Amino acid sequence: MQVTMKVNGEEVTREIEGRLLLVHFLRDHLGLTGTHWGCDTSNCGTCVVWMDGEPVKSCTVLAAMAGGREIRTVEDLEQNGQLDPVQQGFMECHGLQCGFCTPGMMMTARALLDRDPNPTEHVIREAISGQICRCTGYATIVRSIQWAADNEAATAAAAEVPDAVVTAGSVS
Ligand code: FES
Ligand code: FES
Repeated sequence: MQVTMKVNGEEVTREIEGRLLLVHFLRDHLGLTGTHWGCDTSNCGTCVVWMDGEPVKSCTVLAAMAGGREIRTVEDLEQNGQLDPVQQGFMECHGLQCGFCTPGMMMTARALLDRDPNPTEHVIREAISGQICRCTGYATIVRSIQWAADNEAATAAAAEVPDAVVTAGSVS
């Protein structure tokens, strides 16, 4: 069968078998290997991508079901050579070791911060509760997401400072 969907802003059409999972479509048909495949049980969450703006485990979605939908993968987080603050946070706070869980963690984190820019630790832990990291103990992942939230809040606050205040503050 033929399937057409938008992936990271570009329309793609491929011939596929009806039983093909979205995770394999992304990795094997489109070469988007940033999305990882870690289990056969829908437990690990390393395969999380967005479908129509919502995080989904791409191993639980048939590629055929994604027909006509918009898919966003970890490859789309960086824009114009600029890392997403979530990516920066994982770098700053050592949110990864082997990195296998990281793409899914970052896609979930990005979705969380888009709907809740200032999440508590509890909310962050709940958001990533469907994902497994066997390396970090989760503390640095939580800190990475908090770092991204703080960074985005600071950037937004700086953008709101009127020019006159910036000018006055820079004269001493
Ligand atoms: S590959 Fe493990 S939940 Fe999808
Ligand atoms: S960093 Fe290794 S599984 Fe999370």
